[in-house]
Amino acid sequence: MVVKVKTKVITVDKNNIKDVANEAAELLRNGEVVAIPTETVYGLAAQIYSDDAVKNIFNVKGRPQDNPIIVHISSINMLKELVTEIPETARVLMDHFWPGPLTIIFKKSKAVSDIITCGMDTVAIRFPVNEIAQEIITATGIPLAAPSANLSGKPSPTTAEHCIYDLNGKIPLIVDGGSCDVGVESTVVSVCGSKPTILRPGIISLEEIKLYLPDAIVSDTVLRAVRDDEKVESPGMKYKHYSPNCDVVLVESNIDGFVRFVNENAQDGDYAMCFTEEYSYLRIPYLIYGSEDDPEEQAHNIFGTLRKLEAYGAKRILIHAPDKAGKALAVMNRLLRASGFNVVRIDD
Ligand code: TXA
Ligand code: MG
Repeated sequence: MVVKVKTKVITVDKNNIKDVANEAAELLRNGEVVAIPTETVYGLAAQIYSDDAVKNIFNVKGRPQDNPIIVHISSINMLKELVTEIPETARVLMDHFWPGPLTIIFKKSKAVSDIITCGMDTVAIRFPVNEIAQEIITATGIPLAAPSANLSGKPSPTTAEHCIYDLNGKIPLIVDGGSCDVGVESTVVSVCGSKPTILRPGIISLEEIKLYLPDAIVSDTVLRAVRDDEKVESPGMKYKHYSPNCDVVLVESNIDGFVRFVNENAQDGDYAMCFTEEYSYLRIPYLIYGSEDDPEEQAHNIFGTLRKLEAYGAKRILIHAPDKAGKALAVMNRLLRASGFNVVRIDD
């Protein structure tokens, strides 16, 4: 059961960052759960050595009990106690992408509790580049377990307002660090199998990883639905995810096809989620989530746009699907899940 608490929200600026980090760290050391900004999305953090605190993350989010949590560090030194070995492939990734929006799956040491990993023998580790996140982890002096700070199944939070909407009255503190730079969660890469494998795409793309690890691959679960009873490397791929409280249709098409589909099929209560290049042709209400060929802009805006459309009372959202190549794969992966794989393909 989640007990009702008063939630304090503190806005961070360059003058108070140390004070805020110390206030958050004190709560975290005492086993409380705190929402913190990172460069990807906001995280719901607890220190890894309190099983009760970690259990509380699952309670507050309503998270399925078999979905493991990422452990966040603020120095390479913190990594050593958490893993049994650091393979060469991991070293390459760490050298090029840490700190940053990349999570690496290692074989776990005994220091990491089964509650965090849901009984798996691996642990996901992330070294965020966001300064506030780093200050909070360092001030706590203990690595922090943190999933995204949304209620389970909802779009991930990319502003403190999103965290307040989902978590007000459930946690003692939300640290407001403004809008997250990236907007989608970290790229998750496993180095435990025969080839480095992307289990969840993020803003660090396969193509960038292949520059340093040419045999890296993307798991086939990234673009397909996963059955509830299917055994997968990344349990987070199983759940309907990132979903607003209404129907979502993902339309794969060029601009002409999308505009035609929307204008011909729109019903009362429909909203379009579209590209900058096409909004002026649409005859229904819309929100733009970025330019057609700017996946970073799309990534930055997707979750906030889905949340806004839900708040507008949309009955159905018709989304123009992004590309599947490069950084856009991360956006496509989230939108497929937000739509529950409800995809319409329009060939010209
Ligand atoms: O950017 C991020 O990664 C954000 C910020 C807060 O750091 N965190 C985040 O956490 O997205 P979460 O819990 O929403 O997603 C973690 C993903 C899930 O898909 C989970 O299944 C997977 O990582 N994961 C965690 N531990 C794993 C493990 N040992 N093996 C495979 N997948 C794992
Ligand atoms: Mg999440």
